[in-house]
Amino acid sequence: MSIPDIIIAVDGYSSTGKSTFAKMVAKEFAFLYLDSGAMYRGVALCALEAGLAHEDASFDEPALKALLPSLDLHFRRTEDVTKLYLGDRCIESEIRTLGVSKFASPVSALPFVRNFVDDKLHAFAAGGRVIMDGRDIGTTVFPNAQVKIFMTAEPAERARRRYEELLAKGENVTLEAVRTDLEERDYRDTHRATSPLRQAEDAFVLDNTHMTLHEELVWVLGLLQGKFSLLESPGLSW
Ligand code: DC
Repeated sequence: MSIPDIIIAVDGYSSTGKSTFAKMVAKEFAFLYLDSGAMYRGVALCALEAGLAHEDASFDEPALKALLPSLDLHFRRTEDVTKLYLGDRCIESEIRTLGVSKFASPVSALPFVRNFVDDKLHAFAAGGRVIMDGRDIGTTVFPNAQVKIFMTAEPAERARRRYEELLAKGENVTLEAVRTDLEERDYRDTHRATSPLRQAEDAFVLDNTHMTLHEELVWVLGLLQGKFSLLESPGLSW
């Protein structure tokens, strides 16, 4: 199937399966997948390592602002995987630890951090066929994205998925605690002053509460075919 160079923006609440969905689409339709949240996590890691993050999740903002231009945070592509690097150091697993996760949300609320990350995302996506997931991709980062998808699922189902993910990682959590954490994150993401999470007016809503991954793939195929008047099926790999 021939798809022109386009950007697909995938936004939505946490634990709606945005990255699983976006990676699957990237693989099926030969897009480059970019996880914008990784960049916020990368900034949080750098702030921690520079001693600029405080226990209460506040930051030494003037020092962090001064540090940002010197940070060589960038994505590198190996085959069909994109990983975040700080200089020559791959920081992909470090940014996923609980210690860093705790600071990713508050650091992402700082306007100068959002500007820094937006510039990186624009530079990386220039002239390519990209699918990017996050919270404000279709509203702020790429308001002209050709395809915008807003993902959602019922909170109880999202909590159940996240709970099972954490159990599989060996974490000792309760379903209630996971649900509370999820609700707090939803609140923070939708209520921050700069670029809050919201559905773009021209976004297609994907509520996957009762959907399998394969059904999501069929849904997006229909969307892309309709959008680009494509009649041929790419021959889905599964
Ligand atoms: O998707 P994630 O959990 O890896 O994102 C990490 C943090 O960054 C999360 O708290 C939300 C924030 N984020 C954001 O504010 N805007 C984006 N486009 C992507 C992530």
